[in-house]
Amino acid sequence: MTRTTTAQDTRAERRRSKLPRIVDVPFQHVSYLPNEGAAVTDETDVATQGRDSLTIRDNRTGNEYELPIIDGTIRAGELGNIKVDDHDPGLATYDPGFVNTASCRSAITYIDGDKGILEYRGYPIEQLAEKSTYLEVAYLLVHGELPSKQQYESWQHEITYHTFVHENIKAFMEGFRYDAHPMGMLLASVGALSTFYPESSSISDAANRHMQVVRLIAKMPTLGAWAFRHAQGKPYVYPDNDLGYAANFLAMLFRMSEAKFLADERLIQALEVLFILHADHEQNCSTNAVRSVGSSEVDPYSAITGGIAALYGPLHGGANEAVLRMLRRVGSVDKVPEFIAGVKAGKERLMGFGHRVYKNYDPRAKIIKRACDDVFAVTGVNPLLKIAVELEKIALEDDYFVSRRLYPNVDFYSGLIYEALSFPPEMFTVLFAIPRTSGWLSQWLELVTDSDQKIARPKQIYTGKRGLDFVERFERWA
Ligand code: ACO
Repeated sequence: MTRTTTAQDTRAERRRSKLPRIVDVPFQHVSYLPNEGAAVTDETDVATQGRDSLTIRDNRTGNEYELPIIDGTIRAGELGNIKVDDHDPGLATYDPGFVNTASCRSAITYIDGDKGILEYRGYPIEQLAEKSTYLEVAYLLVHGELPSKQQYESWQHEITYHTFVHENIKAFMEGFRYDAHPMGMLLASVGALSTFYPESSSISDAANRHMQVVRLIAKMPTLGAWAFRHAQGKPYVYPDNDLGYAANFLAMLFRMSEAKFLADERLIQALEVLFILHADHEQNCSTNAVRSVGSSEVDPYSAITGGIAALYGPLHGGANEAVLRMLRRVGSVDKVPEFIAGVKAGKERLMGFGHRVYKNYDPRAKIIKRACDDVFAVTGVNPLLKIAVELEKIALEDDYFVSRRLYPNVDFYSGLIYEALSFPPEMFTVLFAIPRTSGWLSQWLELVTDSDQKIARPKQIYTGKRGLDFVERFERWA
């Protein structure tokens, strides 16, 4: 940060206060009222015009500061140098939910919400969903490049080889109550894995990191399927390593007495597509949790457990369940206009519509809508689909939704597919967590190899009391 300054500042003082170079713009007091816009003096204007920088004028002191703009951001830490006096801790930003704060530099997932673009490592999601497999996409996310034939085969072999879990993990899962939420079981089991692999805490060892990445991607379907079987009181099914990633997951979910369970190829394909669509979505709540927990340099199992916990929450992983509840409440196609009128009157929200980032059709929603056809061709059409299609049709033509740029998001149709595949709503977040693991791990790898990163430790604005005298219990209660 550079600072245009008052006359009493000397270069020596600036060195002492660790302020960077002052731009050669003489400070001049200008009359400034906050609501009139941050007008700068003509001289400052001329000196800074065209630079990739931001001039800030602190009206408490009259000092002006010039902060470089890099990648469309200013470094929040540099604001800390803006002080009233030496006792002042410095200026900070207040940004609950990090709605306008970049916490990292990342080369994994690109989103342009206005244009409805989603890319993993530069590849459009539409192409990946159509032409790739989940394991290939996981490789791409983790390694940054598409695999060669040999790399792909070796990756596939590694993942398949590690699908089994220690028998004590099975015993651990069996200890849950009969009605345990599968996501709670998944959360606890992934956390427990860290005790089975204590070497995973050596996160500075690249080979060690790779081993844990493989184990986590490989074991998630096993744990997810067992959590599902547990709720149904059915025996846990061991992985079938002759099958691919999604096919093996379906077998562990649904196999009963048959020696081999081969799901319909269209269902396997639909699940692959759903897994690809959910693999990563840059700095969302659960990814931020993984990065935040991981910043303490804890092992990856514990960091991923943080992500699972975040995804468990209804504001993150639970919207597709809310869509199903809403569709059931609407009940029939002829009730759709009445329901839309209620939404427009502010009585409730059209679940599965709108997104914090996408102000256009969520590209994943388009792909899921197509996957619906494949799934329903096997399972029969979910009767709620007609209501969903009618809701979408009306909403996309209605000025209320158009003017607010509300379009279907990934959750609008995914619940319908999951329900058609016989998953109870409690499983929806588990189905999200399994593929998201490759995204979380890519982000974790990026974090632990990024020299810019520090332990996550946001500031606060303290609003509590200060300096109270403690009165002992017997005196307070007297
Ligand atoms: N139905 C009706 N109106 C809506 C909806 C909706 N689904 N979403 C937003 N609006 C309206 C708001 O009422 C507001 O209107 P106003 O300007 O008249 O007050 C305007 O659109 C902007 O809404 P915000 O809440 O400010 O938008 P924000 O970006 O903060 O919210 C969110 C995004 C939370 C996803 C919101 O659109 C929503 O609640 N959608 C329904 C829930 C949902 O589908 N969530 C899943 C998201 S995808 C995922 O997490 C994987």
